[in-house]
Amino acid sequence: MSALSEQQREALIAAARGAMHHAYAPYSNFRVGAALLFADGVMITGSNVENASYGLSLCAETVACAAAMQAGHRGGLIAVAVAGGTGGVAGAVVTPCGRCRQMLSELAQLGETDPDILCIGAHEIVDMPLSTLLPRAFGPATLD
Ligand code: THU
Repeated sequence: MSALSEQQREALIAAARGAMHHAYAPYSNFRVGAALLFADGVMITGSNVENASYGLSLCAETVACAAAMQAGHRGGLIAVAVAGGTGGVAGAVVTPCGRCRQMLSELAQLGETDPDILCIGAHEIVDMPLSTLLPRAFGPATLD
């Protein structure tokens, strides 16, 4: 299903795992890293950033999307990897939360791609297109 080369896939997974170490997660202790891969080969990472006002916390994927937008990306999103776990140790497979699916979808729809989402766990990596995680997504075209 994945159009990624094995090398790209391994690099993306390593970047997501590496980004876990930059998480600011003193309240949940659940550290998450996300890595976005663009068609031009650029990779952008994000980590969850929590807040003492808990509800303001930002997920790793959302932080990565914001960083990518700020760097000028408007589409071309071909793959995403997400890793996380309590204390930075991977456990269950981490799938993007609902809000993050929507954030990723905006970036994907701008370039009409359907990125592979690599959801990393301690014992397996589940790989599926974003359209499976968020079918019939609301997006920029809905507003036309
Ligand atoms: N979190 C993410 O960073 N990404 C997700 O897709 C799900 C949850 C973060 C939010 C919070 O800082 C911690 O994980 C526990 O929910």
